[in-house]
Amino acid sequence: MTAAAALAGLLHQGGRPTWQLPELTGLNRLPPRATVRRGPARTVDLDGVWDFRLVPRPEDAPAALARRTGWHRVEVPGLWTMQGFGRPHYTNVQMPFATRPPCVPEQNETGIYRRRFELPRGWRRRPVVLHFGGCEGALYVVVNGEPVGIGKDARTPAEFDIGEVVRHDGPNELLAVVVRWSDASFVEDQDQWWHAGLPRSIALYSPSVGDVEARAELDPDLRDGTLRVSAGVEGEVRLLDARGRVVLAGPLEDGRFEGRLRRPAQWSAERPSLYAVEVTAGGETVACDVGFRRVEVRDGLLLVNGRAVLINGVNRHEDDDVRGRAITRASMERDAVLMKRLNLNAVRTSHYPNDPYWLELCDRLGLYVVDEANIESHAYEHELCRDGRYLAAWLDRVRNMVERDKNHPSVILWSLGNESGYGPNHDAAAGWIRGRDPSRPLHYESAVRSPSHADSSRWGEGRRVTDVVCPMYPPVEAIEAWAEADSDDRPLIMCEYSHAMGNSNGGLAEYFAAFRRHPRLQGGFVWEWADHGIRQTDRAGRAYWAYGGDFGDRPNDRNFCADGLLWPDRTPHPAVEELKHLGQPVSVEAIGGGRFRVHNRHELLDLAHLRIAWTLEADGVEVARGVLPVLRTAAGASEEVAPALPAGGGERFVTFRSTLRRATPWAEAGHLVAWDQLPAGGRPRRTALRRAVRPRREDGALVLETHGTRAVVDDRLASLTFGGREVLASGPAVQVWRAPTDNDGLSLMPERGRGFGFGPLARWLALGLHELVREVERVSVRGDAVEVVTRASGRARPADVRHVQRLRLSGDGSLHVENEVRLGEGMVDLPRVGVVMELVPGLGELEWLGPGPHEAYSDRRASTVVARHRSTVDDEYVPYVFPQEHGHHPDARWLRLTGPGGGLEVRGQPTIGFSAGRFTADDLTRALHTVDLRPRPTTVLSLDAAQRGLGTASCGPDTHDRHKLLDRVYRFAYVLRAP
Ligand code: GAL
Ligand code: MG
Repeated sequence: MTAAAALAGLLHQGGRPTWQLPELTGLNRLPPRATVRRGPARTVDLDGVWDFRLVPRPEDAPAALARRTGWHRVEVPGLWTMQGFGRPHYTNVQMPFATRPPCVPEQNETGIYRRRFELPRGWRRRPVVLHFGGCEGALYVVVNGEPVGIGKDARTPAEFDIGEVVRHDGPNELLAVVVRWSDASFVEDQDQWWHAGLPRSIALYSPSVGDVEARAELDPDLRDGTLRVSAGVEGEVRLLDARGRVVLAGPLEDGRFEGRLRRPAQWSAERPSLYAVEVTAGGETVACDVGFRRVEVRDGLLLVNGRAVLINGVNRHEDDDVRGRAITRASMERDAVLMKRLNLNAVRTSHYPNDPYWLELCDRLGLYVVDEANIESHAYEHELCRDGRYLAAWLDRVRNMVERDKNHPSVILWSLGNESGYGPNHDAAAGWIRGRDPSRPLHYESAVRSPSHADSSRWGEGRRVTDVVCPMYPPVEAIEAWAEADSDDRPLIMCEYSHAMGNSNGGLAEYFAAFRRHPRLQGGFVWEWADHGIRQTDRAGRAYWAYGGDFGDRPNDRNFCADGLLWPDRTPHPAVEELKHLGQPVSVEAIGGGRFRVHNRHELLDLAHLRIAWTLEADGVEVARGVLPVLRTAAGASEEVAPALPAGGGERFVTFRSTLRRATPWAEAGHLVAWDQLPAGGRPRRTALRRAVRPRREDGALVLETHGTRAVVDDRLASLTFGGREVLASGPAVQVWRAPTDNDGLSLMPERGRGFGFGPLARWLALGLHELVREVERVSVRGDAVEVVTRASGRARPADVRHVQRLRLSGDGSLHVENEVRLGEGMVDLPRVGVVMELVPGLGELEWLGPGPHEAYSDRRASTVVARHRSTVDDEYVPYVFPQEHGHHPDARWLRLTGPGGGLEVRGQPTIGFSAGRFTADDLTRALHTVDLRPRPTTVLSLDAAQRGLGTASCGPDTHDRHKLLDRVYRFAYVLRAP
């Protein structure tokens, strides 16, 4: 047979195109089997450079095979959409095309991959298995001109026995043809970039041992364990402990082995003790890791080894800004290590089974995994789960996952997929898993999905398919009310919450407080781990991250794919500090009288592995420090400590920092695990006004002057000099606008395209806050003060702000500025109230006393400490993929901006929020990508009396009312002086 005929035969069966035939989930695929390690003599790696060509439609592929020209060379694993062919396409819910399932567009690019291979000597008369770790698109395989088979689940292996068609005495030709769109696309409608190609490793292996099932079970009393192995062959089993000692061994009888182990080391995320199972048969030894542990839902709790665990998790997609979903081992290692360093203990493999190496890392480093089947029919959410033609796909996909991943101790819950409604296909899939693997509970969000995230009316449902109540994005009030109602016998673990899009994750502390109050609120998974931007360079060669629409991909959902805790290159957003702090395994509380209580929140470990040091600072200056004695406080217990804090004045804080005494597999000794800062006396103070200087008139302006300080007011504070050096490029003007954050409803901006319909931004735009015109009403002298009254109104819109500034110069040269801002009708819940000024170029060094060091907002500041922080104006820029408000620091006692050109000190009365950067709110509002921003030479200094919290309204609850600006009058004051 020719390859063309073989391929044509696979593409059409009984006259029907097989890529539009959902009943057909694959052809000739071997049954799925567990991931095991095999020796090099039994494997041939097929990764590397392959021939490649792209044709517009599947029907064009057979004829293209014979053509000599038009072939390229590409890396495998790799995605052609990231290698210069076709393009990535981003959609969230909607499909990228309009045809209805199971039909896909006629124009359907199809990639042809080709390479040759030779078989090692000694593989004659032995099985030869061809393994594809995954495939983006429907996979068609032809070897030596013979049809081999079809695979459709993009994210589990497709394996074929090619023993009958290979040659042992010469080269073999392998063709892997990938059809981009198929019936399977409708159940792979996850919120991410659509790509195409071969993202995972490809190999040949010649097994004597096929599937291995290795169960390391703990007895109900959690003492002794049983290892059960079934391998379907006659041979030997050995169990080795972490030091490589054989602790159990014996023959496989009828393909099975069972052995008891006394007091095995138990596996948990905190102490991931592993054993290795080796199975030897037919001259081959294969191995996999196992861990003795017990997972169950009992008494309304998810228990691991009998203990209720608090899930501090994240949702992680497989994504790389250069390689797309063809991720490397190094990137997986970096992710896993970073998760551990951030006090995370769990990951949901949203929304499909991950590269098997990821689970190996989770086993080894200790991360609980919710393993999710590759099923999401979001665009046809309530249809396909009831469509009998897709029943086979549901079963195939859960089975592929369970069989591949069944031996991993890290997997504690099986998830039936994401956002696919709830129908009989789910019942079938759940029934199959329950029969196949009763050792793990099930997870499926859509079975408890109510009409809105805030509504809990259906949380009591879905028992057939979910053993945990796992809603997404519920407000904290809803989960607390659920816990108090005590109406369910399942625990609640949010499968997604705290949507991390842009400057986000407001309100996280409230969720953690709820978890700590109610044992059955067992945590959740933040959405999501990393932004999915694609690295591009502009014409000037500057790198930036592209999002939906940047490739001409239509329809698209713009930057909704940039919603992670980390930038695409895995640099953490500031919000990560908050999550790390809230999930910390030790915390210190003040109990009065100079005494403190240290809480050990570990699952197992005592505190002896931590060095807990403290410092006492007064007005940001250290006055004492010490180290607590080694604490052997048991997990779950607490202990009182009383470090010797000397008495003294000033505003005082004691800060406890816990660091690792010894290195772990994921961090060096000295790594900061936990911190808490507690007030220890005093308060922020006001700066007193001494002998105010009388204003005088000079050339039509009002002048305030004393020893080296001179302030000139014409229609505003126009000039401020210290020792003859000007500090202002433009004086303070009222500011009620901030560059909208994603949570404010950024995508509603008319010039930024279609909106998602959430957030307060629509109202701000209707008021005209983004285009205020300021007019001076009056500049006058009142006693020793110069009073400037301005009015800011919306250009053709009703916004109306009256701002009174009273400036007084103190005899010591400091300029005291009192402000009153009155807001007009309907002007409640604004982004901010304060002033903005620009400082002359050159004042690029920043120091402040206040919460920091990272940016913080009223609803995201638990992780900050009050201290003297240093930064630069350039470093204050937080380059969110979609430019937006950033860099705010609430409650500064003072801040200094200095440089060779002099400097300025601002003192709060007693505190003031601020940000200092190179961009105005307007600059940030207009930019669509980071490279659209041109840094100003000046310093844009915003002083905020109040700024709205962040919330998470881009996909979840908005900020709480107490973090909204609901007053109509704001009074605030600050002092400007030479540093
Ligand atoms: C959820 C969904 C995720 C993602 C997220 C928003 O509804 O499960 O896949 O779309 O919202 O970023
Ligand atoms: Mg979705």
